[in-house]
Amino acid sequence: MKRVLVTGGAGFIGSHLCEALLKKGHEVVCFDNFFRGKQENVEHLIGRKDFTLIKGDIRNGAEVEKVVQDCDIVHHLAAINGTKYFYEEPILITDVNVAGTLNVLKACADTDVRRITFASSPEVYGLPEKIPTPEDAFSIFDNPTKTLRHSYSTSKYLGDVLCLAFHEKYGLPVTVLRYFNIYGPKLIGTEYGQVVSIFIKKALEGKPIEIFGDGKQTRSFTYVSDAVDATIRAQEKEKAIGQALNVGIQKETTIKELANRVLKITKSNSKIVHKPALVGDAKRRCPDTKKAKKILGWGAKTNLDEGLKKTIEWFKAE
Ligand SMILES: NC(=O)c1ccc[n+]([C@@H]2O[C@H](COP(=O)([O-])OP(=O)(O)OC[C@H]3O[C@@H](n4cnc5c(N)ncnc54)[C@H](O)[C@@H]3O)[C@@H](O)[C@H]2O)c1
Repeated sequence: MKRVLVTGGAGFIGSHLCEALLKKGHEVVCFDNFFRGKQENVEHLIGRKDFTLIKGDIRNGAEVEKVVQDCDIVHHLAAINGTKYFYEEPILITDVNVAGTLNVLKACADTDVRRITFASSPEVYGLPEKIPTPEDAFSIFDNPTKTLRHSYSTSKYLGDVLCLAFHEKYGLPVTVLRYFNIYGPKLIGTEYGQVVSIFIKKALEGKPIEIFGDGKQTRSFTYVSDAVDATIRAQEKEKAIGQALNVGIQKETTIKELANRVLKITKSNSKIVHKPALVGDAKRRCPDTKKAKKILGWGAKTNLDEGLKKTIEWFKAE
C-alpha cells in the first residue's frame, strides 16, 4: 500500500483516479481548490480511513510542501482546463498550470516521493502536422498577437519542460502523460466543459448542438477508465520514468460524427447548428500510441459507442 496524492482529485479524471487507487488498496490524499472540481465527485469516499480530502491551492507553495511531505506517489492533475477558459483566462491558466506545477515539482524534489505523473495534453503539439502524432513531434502554435488560445497549450508545454528538466537535473522520477480528449461520467456539461459533455447535455435537453466550424475537425475520444488505467500503470512501470507518453485511442472521430452518435444514442431531436470556427483550434488530433503500448503495456479498450452510452446514462441519472 502506498500513500498517493492526487492534485485536482475532486475534478473529472482526478475523482475517477482516486476511486481506482483506493480499489487497488492505496491510501489516497485528494487535494483540490474546487475551481472546477466538486466535493460531490468524491463525497462517497469521505469518511473512509484511507481517504483524505484537503481543500487547498497549488499556487500556495507552503500548502503544497506540507501535503506532498509524507506521500510516496504524486499524480499532478490540478489545472485550469476547459476550452472556453483558454480564450478568457490566459493569466489564470499560466499562474495555475505553470507556477502551480513548479510548486508541485519543487515540493517533490525536497522529499522522498518515489513516482510522479503529470497530466499533460496533446495541446502541447499545438497545430500538429504529423498524424498520428508521436511524442517527439514538433509543437506549432499560433502567434499570441492573433489569439491567446494557446495559453493552455503553452502552459502544458511548459509543464512538460519543467517535468523533464526536474528529471534531468534532479533525477525526479516523473512521467508526462498526454491525455487525448478524455470523456466519461462526471465530465462537466456547462459551456466551460468539454465537447462530449456539452453535446450530451444539449441533446438530452432538446437544445441545439453547436458545432464550431464545419465539424470535419477530428479528435481521439478516450474513455476515462482507460486513461486511469494508463495513469496507474505509469506509477508502477520503472521504464515510464523520464518519459512523455500519449494516452489516447489511436482513432479519429470528426466532431460532426460525435454529434450524430450522441443524437442517435440519446434519441434526441436536437438540431445541429454551425458557428464560426474557433481561432487556433487544431484540425486534427490523433495520438501515435506505439510508445505507450511498449512502455505501459497499455491500449485503450473502450470504443466510442460503449463509452458514450455509459456517459449518457450518467447524465440521465443526474
Ligand atoms: N479531460 C481531458 O480531456 C484532458 C485532456 C488533456 C489533459 N487534461 C489534464 O488532466 C487534468 C485533469 O483534467 P480534468 O478534465 O479532470 O479537468 P478538471 O477541471 O475536472 O480537473 C482539474 C482539477 O484541478 C482543480 N484545480 C484547479 N485549479 C486549482 C488550484 N489552483 N489548486 C488546486 N486545485 C485546482 C479543479 O478544481 C479541478 O478539480 C488537468 O491537468 C487537465 O489539464 C485533461
